[in-house]
Amino acid sequence: MKILVTGGAGYIGSHTCLELLKENYDVVVLDNFSNSCKESLNRVQNITGKTLSFYEADLLERPSIHQVFKDHTIDAVIHFAGLKAVGESVTIPLKYYHNNLTGTFNLLSVMDEFNVKNIVFSSSATVYGNPATLPITEDFPLSATNPYGRSKLVIEEILQDLYKSDKDWSIALLRYFNPVGAHESGEIGEDPQGMPNNLMPYISQVATGRLPRLSIFGGDYDTPDGTGVRDYIHVTDLALGHIHTLPKLISKTGVVIYNLGTGNGFSVLEMVKSFERASDRQIAYKITERRPGDIAACFADPSKAKKELGWEATKSLENMCQDTWNWQAKNPMGYRTHSKKE
Ligand code: NAD
Ligand code: WQD
Repeated sequence: MKILVTGGAGYIGSHTCLELLKENYDVVVLDNFSNSCKESLNRVQNITGKTLSFYEADLLERPSIHQVFKDHTIDAVIHFAGLKAVGESVTIPLKYYHNNLTGTFNLLSVMDEFNVKNIVFSSSATVYGNPATLPITEDFPLSATNPYGRSKLVIEEILQDLYKSDKDWSIALLRYFNPVGAHESGEIGEDPQGMPNNLMPYISQVATGRLPRLSIFGGDYDTPDGTGVRDYIHVTDLALGHIHTLPKLISKTGVVIYNLGTGNGFSVLEMVKSFERASDRQIAYKITERRPGDIAACFADPSKAKKELGWEATKSLENMCQDTWNWQAKNPMGYRTHSKKE
């Protein structure tokens, strides 16, 4: 079975390609490297001892997508490609809407043309906005608080409309909570360009000395220790969530929606302490103002995915921190540490 992975060179995409190859899927990657590099795919192939096909192409250029579908008989698409920085999406919303929405339109229209109607879409817990209660189930009300989140919400709605218009489509909307960690080999991991936006890469760059100190955004939330609580999920568990989704996607048409989280919430301070244990280093931090747009707490009820897909996260917070540290210590400058960035 041949899977097209858009954004396959990125953080979650590369880990998913690795698990797909391990499960003997044929993998075709389309990525424009706007937030990644080819080295991640080289390493995925080295780790698995298997090869994948790869296109350096932009979803904004429809003919490039067309070429991929002409060259390969694709059975299903896992669509990771997109821009994801929340703060940047507020500053340059048009770029985000253009890339995420137009890119998805182009992809869907080429899929339609080639009669490939199986798609897994990377959605996000951000579509729940500020939830009234916790844990979050898939039927909670949806809202967007920033252009990035709105692009996810709109794509979810477009995909629902597509199925209403044509019952041959099979669509999985996977809502990720907070992906962290790295493959246990330490060969692939998260490699943010410039200043990290997310907590885990920030902490790990403080641990290596690349950044001087973590700012903890708010110490007065209504949480056990006053710092924000999130549902951190190991990226390998997340990748395996996609592998568990594929058989259902292929066997039955319709739209399915799953939370991919652990169901556990950890605070920023708990993350810092756990990372200190894993790295045996002290993380300098200071509690500062709340970050605009942040919510106090967010964690999933992941029971639907367990019941219907037979998937659940198995890796602990300790695993998440150890694997992040292993990747970061081996690759202090990310993929540029050992090889020229392509
Ligand atoms: P990432 O930036 O590492 O990967 C995205 C990949 O898409 C990159 O390799 C980038 O080069 C590529 N890309 C972007 N625009 C493209 C275009 N127009 N054409 C071709 N390739 C393009 O991000 P990630 O963390 O791996 O996230 C993957 C997906 O999961 C994204 O859609 C993201 O919104 C979603 N998501 C991520 C998180 C998270 O915290 N990482 C949480 C929820 C959802
Ligand atoms: C986690 C916690 C911060 C950085 C974001 C997106 C969401 C999804 C996942 C894509 C919060 C605190 C962070 C720092 C801190 N992405 N923090 N200091 O905001 O839960 O979710 O990534 O879909 O859409 O919004 O993740 O890692 O930024 O923050 O104190 O330097 O860490 O306040 O409590 P977030 P995060």
